Amino acid sequence: MKKQLFTMLLAVPLSMLAQPRQEITLSENWSFSHDKKTWQSVSVPHDWAIAGPFNKKWDLQKVAIVQNGETEATEKSGRSGALPWIGKGHYRRTINIPRKWMHAELVFDGAMAEPTVYLNGEKAGYWAYGYNAFKVDITPYMKVGENLLEVDLQNLEESSRWYPGAGIYRPVKLVLTGNSYIDPWKTFFRTTEIKNGEAILDVTVGACDVDEQNSFDIEISDSKGNVVAKQTGVNLTSTGEENIRLTINNPMAWTPETPYLYNAKIKLYSLGDLVDEVTQKIGIRTVKCSKDGGFQLNGVTRKIKGVCLHHDLGPLGAAINKSALIRQIKMMKEMGCDAIRTSHNMPSQMQMDICDSLGMMVMAESFDMWKYPKCKNGYARFFDDWADKDITNLVLANRNHPSIVMWSIGNEIPEQGSAEGRLISIHLQGLCNSLDPTRPVTQGMDRAEEALNSGFAQAMNVPGFNYRVHKYQKNIEQLPQGFLLGSETASTVSSRGVYKFPVEVTDNSQYASWAPTYDPKAIEKADGQCSSYDVEYCSWSNLPDDDWVWQDDKPWVIGEFVWTGYDYLGEPTPYDEYWPARSSYFGICDLAGLPKDRYYLYRSKWNKEQHTIHLLPHWSFGKERIGKVTPVYCYTDYPTAELFVNGKSQGKITKNRESRLDRYRLRWNDVKYQPGQVKVVVYDAQGNKAGEKTVTTAGKPSALKLDVWTQNDKHTLNATGDDMAFITVSLTDAKGNIIPEANDQLSFEVTGAGSFEAVCNGDATSLESFKKPTMKLFNGQLVVIVRGAKTPGIATLKVTDKKRKISKSLQIRVE
Ligand code: GAL
Repeated sequence: MKKQLFTMLLAVPLSMLAQPRQEITLSENWSFSHDKKTWQSVSVPHDWAIAGPFNKKWDLQKVAIVQNGETEATEKSGRSGALPWIGKGHYRRTINIPRKWMHAELVFDGAMAEPTVYLNGEKAGYWAYGYNAFKVDITPYMKVGENLLEVDLQNLEESSRWYPGAGIYRPVKLVLTGNSYIDPWKTFFRTTEIKNGEAILDVTVGACDVDEQNSFDIEISDSKGNVVAKQTGVNLTSTGEENIRLTINNPMAWTPETPYLYNAKIKLYSLGDLVDEVTQKIGIRTVKCSKDGGFQLNGVTRKIKGVCLHHDLGPLGAAINKSALIRQIKMMKEMGCDAIRTSHNMPSQMQMDICDSLGMMVMAESFDMWKYPKCKNGYARFFDDWADKDITNLVLANRNHPSIVMWSIGNEIPEQGSAEGRLISIHLQGLCNSLDPTRPVTQGMDRAEEALNSGFAQAMNVPGFNYRVHKYQKNIEQLPQGFLLGSETASTVSSRGVYKFPVEVTDNSQYASWAPTYDPKAIEKADGQCSSYDVEYCSWSNLPDDDWVWQDDKPWVIGEFVWTGYDYLGEPTPYDEYWPARSSYFGICDLAGLPKDRYYLYRSKWNKEQHTIHLLPHWSFGKERIGKVTPVYCYTDYPTAELFVNGKSQGKITKNRESRLDRYRLRWNDVKYQPGQVKVVVYDAQGNKAGEKTVTTAGKPSALKLDVWTQNDKHTLNATGDDMAFITVSLTDAKGNIIPEANDQLSFEVTGAGSFEAVCNGDATSLESFKKPTMKLFNGQLVVIVRGAKTPGIATLKVTDKKRKISKSLQIRVE
């Protein structure tokens, strides 16, 4: 290859070579087709299935969900979202490669699924797993000027337990370089020590097609641009890898609370000429898990307050978008959450960049199954040939993100009880450890006894257990590690704004229909909703309160990842067999991103910076509830509170350590509903009045309220074409009280410098398309998403409620 460079040198002036790389994100000018006959123009990220229509026939699965304890196969209609994601998809566009570039590579961040990549009609690459990042070297197939890029995808039925999305749903980047170039995946920054006001940063610089003629400079600068460490003229050899050690004085360590990032710049030279240059953000921080210290970030023990997130973005589907991801993460941070688990697959680079910069720790996961299939056409088809390649890409593509604190090699792997399973664990964990010795490896186990008998659990750097907190004590006694992680917790179910009476704590709600206790009467009564009193969960799971007892009382429980931060498409447990139900109920926030009551329960426990005082239920029930027992709950960090209904005290109560539901919540269980006002007054530990909150019965519906969220907090959008505003629409009375049970049909119109992108009301039973500009309110609210244009101007959203003859407009500046 080096010879080739000299041949090229004859034809290409040196000045042209002395130009660093060009990286182009291929977002526009794609054509998409299902049959290669009719094509439509699309931009990437793209999800071909999210517009629907919803229909139970898509991926209708007749299966027994063994993980849920089922033994008989029954019809599961909404299991993978009831959206048309099955089948083939084809993408094509041209890419222009000017003469000066000698090497070209495509970096896919994920394409669903089984992407085959062609350049100028020749097969250039393939990747089996739809969730992983992969690179395709297109140098051998490229020509100067226009090149035809094609990507073929296929999605098989019964290949997923949730909605996987469909299409090129994450960005694709074209990287153009000279013959010798820096490889960011071979380049690794790791903090080995932070001590005595110094951080030791070990760096491996990896470059391709280099030899003794090549050298590099490296420079680390702080956020103000001051150079804090550097080394120049480091020689490379033909191995292309060189290790150096840098010392940074007075380092600013990365934590979720102080997500400080440095810039690392590497310049590659050939005989003194600059041939490539890469800049990337890095963080200084250490991670450790041990018996003595539990989970430690920069030597400081902390309990992980995490949530599991599937990759879909609700009404946007799997097509990733920066504003939507920022909205998700900011909302979780505001709750006090400090970590996410990318269940059960590889994260996107965009999401990891955001976690780095906003401060969110990450457990980056890989697989939901190994060899033994959880669903007929799942990843088990590929495991033997692809597992090592997939783990390798996961680690290499992501190991420079300071936010990632742990790798996960699997979720509820059926092989956990076998000797073979233990060996696979050791192998995959070993691979992670060798590619990245700085982070521990975990996986989520759901069959504690089996995993402990086989030695599967003992083999892990971090033994992670999904649910079944009552087994934690027995588990820890058998674990040489001396600590364990709640790798998946809670699976409490609720629907935003739905309150069921009487309030009953149950692991099989009366509106449920799932198989183990299948009851035709229950299904008759079912309305596809779960109660928002946060007392309903699944046979294998529990309530948030149950997890906290273990985390608070046992130093060896190093934290948790709640299932889930947001509702997601598919897996509508407990309504797996009920139609219509096409998205989950597990979320702390609903599918539209609106907080359910549970959000405030977690906030009251997790957010140590701000106080929480939240009351439920709403106080606008119909006449039929008057005089009926309507329990009132307060989610607050304060220990004591007194409740008043229309001025009459319902009693002053204090949290009770000994009681399952009164240790973290304040509950008045005998309140009888009367319209008017319900007010709570909270007291601190010293008995001082600390705050109050009132909920008022709403009057007549008379106005629409529009609350806009944008990523810059200024209510404006960047004129990039992919910035989005999220507008929460609420129907209110004249005083601004939300009409909590309203389900009016609204319509939306966007004019000017923006377009209607999607709408979602968080109702898991809704079959209205996310992509049509009309939708019913669900319990008084929904969220409209407006995409800003590429050119500056004003985007106007008009929301109309025809039935009540009211409308409201909102202007958003695009700049
Ligand atoms: C777990 C599983 C998750 C999800 C969850 C629902 O067992 O790991 O993917 O299915 O149950 O409770």
